[in-house]
Amino acid sequence: MTVHYTELEYLPADLKRELLPKHVAVIMDGNGRWAKRQGLPRIMGHKRGVDALKDLLRCCKDWGISALTAYAFSTENWKRPQEEVEFLMTLFQRVLRQELREMLEENVQIRFVGNLQALPRILQEEISRSMEETKDNRAIRFTVATNYGGRQEILQACRAIADQVKQGLLQPDEIDEATFERHLYTAGICDPDLLIRTSGEMRISNFLLWQMAYAEIYITETLWPDFDRAEFHRALSAYQQRERRFGKV
Ligand code: IPE
Ligand code: IPE
Ligand code: MG
Repeated sequence: MTVHYTELEYLPADLKRELLPKHVAVIMDGNGRWAKRQGLPRIMGHKRGVDALKDLLRCCKDWGISALTAYAFSTENWKRPQEEVEFLMTLFQRVLRQELREMLEENVQIRFVGNLQALPRILQEEISRSMEETKDNRAIRFTVATNYGGRQEILQACRAIADQVKQGLLQPDEIDEATFERHLYTAGICDPDLLIRTSGEMRISNFLLWQMAYAEIYITETLWPDFDRAEFHRALSAYQQRERRFGKV
């Protein structure tokens, strides 16, 4: 029997609902290599990457996963050629504008994390609008890490906490994990249970350093634009085989 995954609206029968990750994070890597293999410019890979992300978001929603976080642009990605950076910023802005209505209809809550003030103003406006308009949506929490760096996130949390100490609002020995988490960009979102990285690279690339403490990591050779429901199914099957110990025996 052939399964058409694009039509696979319901959770595949071999997956156990009670063992699904609550929160999936993805490092969407390999757009450039995908384009190169097709003989296309890198930017075409980014365009196709958007389609893959849209389908993953819908799939998470269809299959009952309540949070998805995607790494769209790292603090290090500014080091790419200016042309590529500009293309990405314009793409984010255009996609956000085009997809807002659908996100509203599908009850998606979108949130952006990262140093957003450094993004082009027009993109910042689209970001604020989309976050404001979708804030009460509850079907799925979709977080996009844009100009995001894990170290930078930890540093800004430290500065904010140090400032509270300086003002006498907090004692140093009162700083615990919960205090710290409240100052991260991801405050209020549970830690990812599963991290997926495409295109075979075995690294974290400065993504969610604090939050990833106990995430299960799944790496596939598939390039991001080719990551589809069948691939996601494989990632979830692998995740369900894992024994999560959290330091216990
Ligand atoms: C990931 O794909 C997308 C972004 C970092 C924005 P890449 O652009 O890193 O693709 P490769 O790694 O060069 O193939
Ligand atoms: C990580 O991919 C960042 C995003 C997917 C946005 P990169 O392609 O930038 O990571 P490195 O450079 O291979 O570590
Ligand atoms: Mg890459």
